Amino acid sequence: MSGAEEANTRIAIDGPAGSGKTTTGKLVATRFGFRFFDTGIMYRAATRMAQLQGVAFTDEATIVHSIEESVLEFVFDDAGDFRVFILGADETDSLRSPEVDHGVSTVAALPVVRQLMVQMQRDIAGDDQIVMVGRDIGTVVLPDAELKIYLTASAEERARRRFEQNRSSGIRQNFDEIVTDLKARDVLDSEREASPLRPADDSISVSSDGKSLEEVVDEVAQLVKAAE
Ligand code: DC
Repeated sequence: MSGAEEANTRIAIDGPAGSGKTTTGKLVATRFGFRFFDTGIMYRAATRMAQLQGVAFTDEATIVHSIEESVLEFVFDDAGDFRVFILGADETDSLRSPEVDHGVSTVAALPVVRQLMVQMQRDIAGDDQIVMVGRDIGTVVLPDAELKIYLTASAEERARRRFEQNRSSGIRQNFDEIVTDLKARDVLDSEREASPLRPADDSISVSSDGKSLEEVVDEVAQLVKAAE
């Protein structure tokens, strides 16, 4: 795709947990001056909300009701960062806890929760230059995105990265537990009925195994240039 009239480039990056979507996506967005949005935050927010309210992660009606009653609020702050408020309290920093990690695939499998989130994600993307990352961006949220990447890596590589990430954020969790959690999430995310994790037919697969972050970002950046 080329030509001034097609300057809007929406980039969908999907892939399993820990494949490096967020880190890669952010760097690609910075390189091109695009906005960046991580949709996983929204499902994490709904999970944290259920946890704080003592609601079962399978209780779709109550979770949907709380979202509709604005118990959960999503706000872009003055710096353009996305922040999550639950009953008025800023919970953004508690969305990557092992408890949320553990429950989020269950909440993300609830079809009506997904419908609400997908609508908000489309509103956020608008018609603008954006890198949006998740599981169903290329298949459901932005099916007409100009570029769709499916980012993969082996489970061990993904767990190793998650372990390092957790350690630098002060979260203590042992390696084997992370591998088990990641594999369980892979199964739940790809076997659920509502928009399961799968590559879009027109996506380009990029493996990050054995590559440095810079190499992966360069590879994706080349694809962005080709799509512009
Ligand atoms: O990318 P992440 O680990 O923050 O995602 C958290 C969970 O949300 C994960 O289990 C998959 C789910 N998710 C989803 O179903 N659809 C998305 N677009 C993004 C995340």
